[in-house]
Amino acid sequence: MKIVVIGGTGLIGSKLVKELREHGHEAVAAAPNTGVNSVTGEGLAEALKGASVVVDVTNSPSWDDAAVLKFFETSTRNLLASEAAAGVGHHVALSVVGTERLLESGFFRAKLAQENIINASSIPYTIVRATQFFEFVKPIADYSTEGNKVRLPPALFQPMAADDVAAAVARIATNSPVNGTVEIGGPDKFRLDELVRRDLAARHDPREVISDPQARYYGIQVSERALVPDDDAQLGKVHFEDWLKQSTKQAAKPALQSA
Ligand SMILES: NC(=O)c1ccc[n+]([C@@H]2O[C@H](COP(=O)([O-])OP(=O)(O)OC[C@H]3O[C@@H](n4cnc5c(N)ncnc54)[C@H](OP(=O)(O)O)[C@@H]3O)[C@@H](O)[C@H]2O)c1
Repeated sequence: MKIVVIGGTGLIGSKLVKELREHGHEAVAAAPNTGVNSVTGEGLAEALKGASVVVDVTNSPSWDDAAVLKFFETSTRNLLASEAAAGVGHHVALSVVGTERLLESGFFRAKLAQENIINASSIPYTIVRATQFFEFVKPIADYSTEGNKVRLPPALFQPMAADDVAAAVARIATNSPVNGTVEIGGPDKFRLDELVRRDLAARHDPREVISDPQARYYGIQVSERALVPDDDAQLGKVHFEDWLKQSTKQAAKPALQSA
């Protein structure tokens, strides 16, 4: 099958393209630096010629409220219009578990707008809602840092490896559209504050994590279960501790090599 991955050069996109090719598919990595821009429409018609499936794993370059909304609305409308013209039979988009519980943030309002446009379109689709990627744990700490302290709520948290996200999206993209939403998550549940504490400790990061039920997650007040998927979510295989060991080993390599 020809499968076009919009955002195919990003964290998930590049892993997804690799995974699809390993399974014998013709996977095209589409992004501005490969000549395909879903916001301006540049290169879309050409890239989508003969495609059976389009997977949207783009992200907005700006997370400013107005910019992120404009990005996901414009990009999604352009993609769906080009897919209709090219006769694409399955639109797959990556979204976030709990989006409707996180609408205090402009980013999640934009993701919900993206989902609503897909829902209302005539193209058969599957929306894949993933939990936070392991790679995103440190940025969460950075966002919540004041001085030497990281203040976070003890909300339940079930993050997953980017490799597992890519594997799940590849599987879903090569199956029939469900015309609805599928949730994916990590194999284990944690408390957000505790997991960030473990991540920073493993990286010898001296910041102190303070557990505070009133603290916000990315500026959003979250309930205990806001970030975790339902019980029927498809779960990944990679455990956080194993990923963390690998990730800290890799981070240490350049230092050892230059020593
Ligand atoms: N972070 C998380 O924990 C998390 C959790 C669940 C779901 N998600 C969702 O997962 C998706 C992918 O995340 P990611 O971390 O893989 O993103 P990423 O690494 O930032 O990659 C984004 C991709 O989008 C491309 N892109 C940007 N503007 C574009 C445009 N106008 N036209 C075509 N492509 C464009 C980028 O290309 P260039 O590099 O050339 O700009 C890049 O290939 C996002 O929609 C996000 O909401 C994230």
